[in-house]
Amino acid sequence: MKIAIVGAGYVGLVTGACFADFGHDVVCVDKDQPRVDALNRCEVPIYEPGLVELLRSNLGAGRLTFTTDLKLAVAGAEVVFIAVGTPSRRGDGHADLTYVHEAARQIATAVSGFTLVVTKSTVPVGTGDEVAQIIATTNPEADIAVVSNPEFLREGAAIEDFKRPDRIVVGIEDERARAVMTEVYRPLYLNQAPLMFTGRRTAELTKYAANAFLAMKVTFINEIADLCEATGADVQQVARGIGLDNRIGAKFLHAGPGYGGSCFPKDTLALVKIGQDHDSPMRLVETTIAINEQRKRAMSRKVIAACGGDVRGKTIGVLGLTFKPNTDDMREAPSIDIIQGLVDRGAHVVAYDPQGMVAARMLVDGTVDFADSAYEVAVDADALVLVTEWNEFRSLDLARIKAAMKSAVFVDLRNIYRRDEVVRHGFDYTSIGRPA
Ligand code: UGA
Repeated sequence: MKIAIVGAGYVGLVTGACFADFGHDVVCVDKDQPRVDALNRCEVPIYEPGLVELLRSNLGAGRLTFTTDLKLAVAGAEVVFIAVGTPSRRGDGHADLTYVHEAARQIATAVSGFTLVVTKSTVPVGTGDEVAQIIATTNPEADIAVVSNPEFLREGAAIEDFKRPDRIVVGIEDERARAVMTEVYRPLYLNQAPLMFTGRRTAELTKYAANAFLAMKVTFINEIADLCEATGADVQQVARGIGLDNRIGAKFLHAGPGYGGSCFPKDTLALVKIGQDHDSPMRLVETTIAINEQRKRAMSRKVIAACGGDVRGKTIGVLGLTFKPNTDDMREAPSIDIIQGLVDRGAHVVAYDPQGMVAARMLVDGTVDFADSAYEVAVDADALVLVTEWNEFRSLDLARIKAAMKSAVFVDLRNIYRRDEVVRHGFDYTSIGRPA
């Protein structure tokens, strides 16, 4: 099939590369010329495991190209995906649809023949109606069907998630779209991935409901972790004990410093706004947002307590800055609030992240010194705080770390170490929701 993708950001790039890998003919459109040139040379602007390899093989096979020429790309396509950003609108938290609307206007003037226009961007309920309206107004001749096909991939596992999805949700209002979308996803469909057709509004809402539910699940276990600390219970065992119940499920029950990233914070906020707009308050989600915000700051107080109640003049080493491993994404990362909390109380912070330091420098530069490895972070540190569970932090040489530090305080905000092994090396060890 001939597919155009408008927006070569995270979702657009992964979607384009994967569809090309399915054998479709894919053109990705972006208005940023240097980005397009770089992508055509297979230089990828984000860190995502496996993406460079996938781009290289599909660019090489001629199934994938990047261009700034939206008109040409759309004119030749049977299906046009909109994969532009929908950031939080400054001031009110609604999803900002400027780019989606702009894409719809441009697509309207370029389509030829019956074309599906599919929103992959996360958009509020009713956006499909707006896109259809914009296209109809801009070009009354256009023969299109607007479809909602939200994306559920995770950063850091994007390709795996795209190629092995739990489900594919496709919201349609025009029956002609059913066969085309089935063809687009044929390789996955043949692999038994449930392809679920719904109404367009249902598909749009499903995306927000999924992210909000996951954010709530993480926040729930984080609160249980606090209660475990207060009562001497162990959150990892509680998580296992409840997760083995199939109705609950074991995933997304890892207690930590609070969720971050480009999706949960933005989408939970947008869902609350949608609820307010429709006089149908999302109270659980509102509370989830508030708890998560407080938690990120509470983590710096936890570190301060582990340091004996005072960090003034002390050096705190931070391991991991990105909001989760296998990404270079720093958006809404808990590390930002934790570091700010420590700096506000007079600490000197030294940090290291395997992929996030370029982005981190833009966010926390001036308040933080950067090191080149976990071992360099440890040099003369009064405490070490593990914020992001990168694999390379899972098997640190603890004896070497301890020897380099000024005092042996280790705060593990992801519970990736066993207390006995850390204590055996002479550390004072603090983790999340596990007995002291
Ligand atoms: C999330 C969803 O998982 C995807 O399904 C969705 O497609 C995506 O948002 C999106 O809307 O684009 P992502 O933000 O990449 O994906 O990352 P997650 O793996 O979901 O992690 C989100 C946050 O929750 C991270 O800060 C992570 O550390 C935290 N988390 C996750 C926990 O603290 N504990 C857990 O058990 C799981």
